[in-house]
Amino acid sequence: MKRKHLLGLQELSAEEINTILDTARPMRDIIMRDIKKVPTLRGKTVATLFYEPSTRTRSSFELAAKFLSADTLSLNVAVSSVQKGESLIDTVRTIEAMGVEILVVRHQQSGVPQFIAAHTKMSVINAGDGFHEHPTQALLDLYTIKQKFYKIKDLRVAIIGDIFHSRVARSNIWGLLKLGAEVTVCGPPSLIPVEISKLGVRVETNLDRTLAWADVINVLRIQKERQDKGYLTGFDEYRDWYGITREKLNQLQNKKILILHPGPINRGVEIDDYVAESPQAMVNEQVTNGVAVRMAVLYLLAGGSDNGVTI
Ligand code: CP
Repeated sequence: MKRKHLLGLQELSAEEINTILDTARPMRDIIMRDIKKVPTLRGKTVATLFYEPSTRTRSSFELAAKFLSADTLSLNVAVSSVQKGESLIDTVRTIEAMGVEILVVRHQQSGVPQFIAAHTKMSVINAGDGFHEHPTQALLDLYTIKQKFYKIKDLRVAIIGDIFHSRVARSNIWGLLKLGAEVTVCGPPSLIPVEISKLGVRVETNLDRTLAWADVINVLRIQKERQDKGYLTGFDEYRDWYGITREKLNQLQNKKILILHPGPINRGVEIDDYVAESPQAMVNEQVTNGVAVRMAVLYLLAGGSDNGVTI
């Protein structure tokens, strides 16, 4: 891969996405070993800079970097000079001046990773920006789907929930369409962007029809922290209409759809315990695959190639 940054899947070609997924496969083998360490990124330094909370993305980038023998720096924004008013760009330049080569950044504002990439010599990886993109989440979702179906092309994938606020939905839409899947977005009309069908997705507001259509569903988290505008009347009502429950799965009789959820889960809102713990749900598999995909991204941005993985 010739790119210096990973900012979103909108800008990646199908070939580049496939290169990352193909590279993630040997990376996954590494994390299944007793000794999860290869010297591939020895001497490189990877920093994480998260202005929003994270469990999965931040930890898995750190582990991915460590498994590849990179040094890591995890800047804790809550106790950093950001709290004294330091600007974003000054924080970035400070990290760069310490010799960091790859910066992984999450920010509540869409476009921040692109802005940083234009003002630094470091490689920048978008770990989620506002409502815009979360490319490594979509890559691990694609990897998980491919692991089960051995393909993406022509699969029917439904993304269910709060599409409006979801960077996971946007990155998934770009990735799935580029690899030839059919995509439906399903949710309350107030949480579906008006012109989203122009991207090439079907729009559906009926959950039963969506489940009957889909091979795979990606159940989005209801982002409680972003529901201050009243687009959602209540979480109980949301569960009644769009919650993935045992009853909903039973309606499908023998049809076993694959269920993804990016986490963190609101149990009893967008997905019930029974479903989240069912063999169809890939939640933990997605987390494991997230480490492998992030190892692949770090490796490729550092100059590695998919036909020369030195592990
Ligand atoms: N899926 C996801 O981005 O999770 P975190 O917020 O825990 O990183």
